[in-house]
Order: sequence, then structure tokens, then C-alpha cells
Amino acid sequence: MAEKLWNGRFEQPTDKLVEEYTASIHFDSRLYSHDIQGSIAHCRMLAECGIIAHEEASQIVQTLGEILRDIERGKVKLDSSQEDIHMAIENELTARIGDIGGKLHTARSRNDQVALDMRLFMREALSSLLELLRNVQAALVQMAEENLEVIMPGFTHLQHAQPVLFSHHLMAYYEMFSRDFGRLSDCLGRTDVMPLGSAALAGTAFPTDMEWTSRELGFSRVIANSIDAVSDRDYLIEFCSAAAILMMHVSRMAEELVIWSSAEFSFIEISDAFCTGSSIMPQKKNPDVPELMRGKTGRVYGNLFALLTLAKGLPLAYNRDLQEDKEPVFDSVDTVMATLRLLGKMLPQIRIHSETMANMAGQGFTAATDLADYLARRDVPFRKAHHVAGRIVQYCIQAGKDLGECSLDELKGFHKAFDEDIFDFLEISSIVDRRLSVGGTATLRVKEAIVRAKADLESRGAVSAKNIKTEE
Ligand code: ARG
Repeated sequence: MAEKLWNGRFEQPTDKLVEEYTASIHFDSRLYSHDIQGSIAHCRMLAECGIIAHEEASQIVQTLGEILRDIERGKVKLDSSQEDIHMAIENELTARIGDIGGKLHTARSRNDQVALDMRLFMREALSSLLELLRNVQAALVQMAEENLEVIMPGFTHLQHAQPVLFSHHLMAYYEMFSRDFGRLSDCLGRTDVMPLGSAALAGTAFPTDMEWTSRELGFSRVIANSIDAVSDRDYLIEFCSAAAILMMHVSRMAEELVIWSSAEFSFIEISDAFCTGSSIMPQKKNPDVPELMRGKTGRVYGNLFALLTLAKGLPLAYNRDLQEDKEPVFDSVDTVMATLRLLGKMLPQIRIHSETMANMAGQGFTAATDLADYLARRDVPFRKAHHVAGRIVQYCIQAGKDLGECSLDELKGFHKAFDEDIFDFLEISSIVDRRLSVGGTATLRVKEAIVRAKADLESRGAVSAKNIKTEE
């Protein structure tokens, strides 16, 4: 282990096991570019404020840039001989330029440094996630538009309920993902706050300019309280929560893709590129990708609980426990990113079996509600109409036929209000297209929803911390 930057007051060397136990370099080395970005801004600010000399600052900044390049080329060893990424980079700096490197840490501590690094990391990750989520939504809208004619059975309790447009079903997921987009955007707004300069917890006596650092790093504003700056991780918990809800939506869709690609349903076929085979059963083509999307949702939920539990008992301000915030966050970012990337690629390649869906849409007496509605439109009280339709369904089950296969006389036997136009009324497509209520499944409404969605996707464009409204 390199010479410790904090060992002035220690008489004995650190126990080897303690070094291993407390080290975080094996996971926080991922923050190297953010750490250097923050250090460069901090160093320039120190010079701007006359706290260190401009020549010294230039030398530090230049060397930090070189270290960044060397890390990227694999020329700097970042391993467990260093405690964390902050010390590793500072050690490397002083190894290269001697004592001047020691001036970089003026007016800051690792507590605010790590707080800054995580905010820089999260800001970047959120922007990428928002972009990937937008791509998934665009894929859904395109699928909805291309399959506007396709009718499927809508389900409640996984039983046939009423026919709906397949596009309407897809657009339901579009709406869920729009709210996920909103949650991640909100989180980005609260992440976009600059904590560096809060130092250990109390702020600093040096005449620093946190606004300068904030502008330099492209943040919207400086954090208001130095204790809060180094203590709280609520924006990370918020991210893990938004990620968990998003994965819950993905998982529901994944579950449907699995069911729909079974022989029993045969609604869709997932492209070979997204399936795998069995080592024993030669005929198998398994929907592993959606299965794993469903499965990985569990770990994203777990990460949320890890963070909530981590934070709940901590007295203010910084406690070393907080070092444990990184792995759950990194894992959620990686899992959600990989999932969204794959989902956006898999959806456009799904083959839709529209005839199977349409056939199934008419089965299971899915027109029964409309049979009742028909009578209600002819002034029969709905409760009574519902009862009559139920009796007709029971009759059909016993006679082994479908509603549309009854003759007008048979229907009239149940209620005199039935007329010749009942058969057109029970056509699957007219059942769908009559549902013109707000957000209903009528083709007209779904078309409107698609137009709205396209405008929405257009207006979102590339998302960056800059154009996200900030609020606290
Ligand atoms: N590795 C630490 C973390 O991730 C950095 C801050 C350490 N601060 C301290 N006072 N020991 O939280």
C-alpha cells in the first residue's frame, strides 16, 4: 500500500485485513474520469480565488490531464494497494510533480469529493438512461403504428375480456414508460447540484468560489448546506427507486412476451437472435432475454433496499458506511442500461401473428358486454341487459356455439329488442371502434395517441442536464 495521505497522527501501520476491508478502489476506480474532472475544476477555482498560484494550478491541471490519458491507456495501476480512487489519483499526482500536487486538496475533503464524483457520474448515467428509454418508447410507437389493424383479446384475470387493438395494448406500455421518463428526469434535476467546497462537513475558511466551480462543471446550482452535501444520498435512492419502478414495467412486458410466444398463445415470435436453445431438447427455442429482464428486476429492487437500509440509521454528517452506496447504484445503472438497450433492439424484430390474435379476440364470448350494451341502447336498463346477455352466454356454452352463431330468432327468444343489426354490432372491429371514450381502444383514439406520442418523443430530443427543469 502506498504511503497514506492521512497517516500523520498514526504510530502503527494499518492492519492488512483492515486495508482490504476498507478499500473501495476495486469499484470506485470507475469514477476516475469524474474525479479528475472535479479536481481540475477545483484546482482552477483555487487559482482564480488566489488560494494557489496560477503556475502551480497549470502544472496540476496539466498533470491531471496526463494521468487521465494514462489511466485510459492502462498505464496507471489502480489496484487494491490504493484505498480509493481519490487517494490513488492524488498519490499519482504527487509522484509526478512532487509537493505541488499536495496543494490540490486545499479547501476540500474526500467527503465532498466523493459526493461530487457520484453526482457527476449519476448526471451522465441518467442522461444515457433517458436516451435509451426514449428509444424503447420510439420502438413501441413504431410497432403500434405498423400494426394498427391488429385486434387481440384484452385480458382481465388473464381471461378473455374484450377485444382491443394490439396497438392500444402497446401504447399502455408507452404511457408507463413516459412516467418512468418523468421520474428519471426529476431525479436528474435533483442530482444536478454542486457539493464540492463543503469540505469535511462545515464548509471551508478559504475564500473559495463554489459558484465558479459549479459553472465550470456545468451544474445548475450549488448545494445550500454543507452538512447535507456530504451526508445525504437521497438522489441516489431516488434513482434506485425510479429504476425499480421502471424495471417493474419492463418485467410485466417481458412476462407477456414470454406468455405470448408460448405454443398455447402463439401471438408473437421473438427473433432467433434473442432466443437460445436447450442442451437436451433439440426443438427448443427459449425466450431467455425477456425471462432475464424479468429476473434481473429482482436485483434492481434489492439495490433500492440496500440503499434505504444503508442510510436509515446514519447520524449526520459523513459516515464511512456511505462508501457502500456505490455498488448498488452502479449495478442498477448497468442492469437498466443493458436491459433498455436490448429491449429497444428486440421489439422491432418481433413477428406478430395477427391472425391468431384476431381469432382469439373473438373467442371466449368477448362480445358479451356489447350484447348487453346493444339492449341498453334500446332502453333496457343495463342491469337487466347484463342478465339477459349472461343467459345467452350460458345458452351458447350449452349449445357449443359462439354468440355470433345464434340466429335472430334465438336471440329474440331472450329479448324482443334484438333486431337484424345486432350482427353488425357484434363484429369484432365495430366492437373495438365504438370505444371512443378518452383513452379508449377505438382506432381513432389509438391513432390520436400515436400522433401525441410522436410529438412528445420529438420534443424530448436529446436529454441533458441543461434542459431539465430543476427543482428541489
Ligand atoms: N471512499 C470513500 C467513500 O466512498 C471516500 C470518502 C472517505 N472519507 C473519509 N472520511 N474516510 O465514501
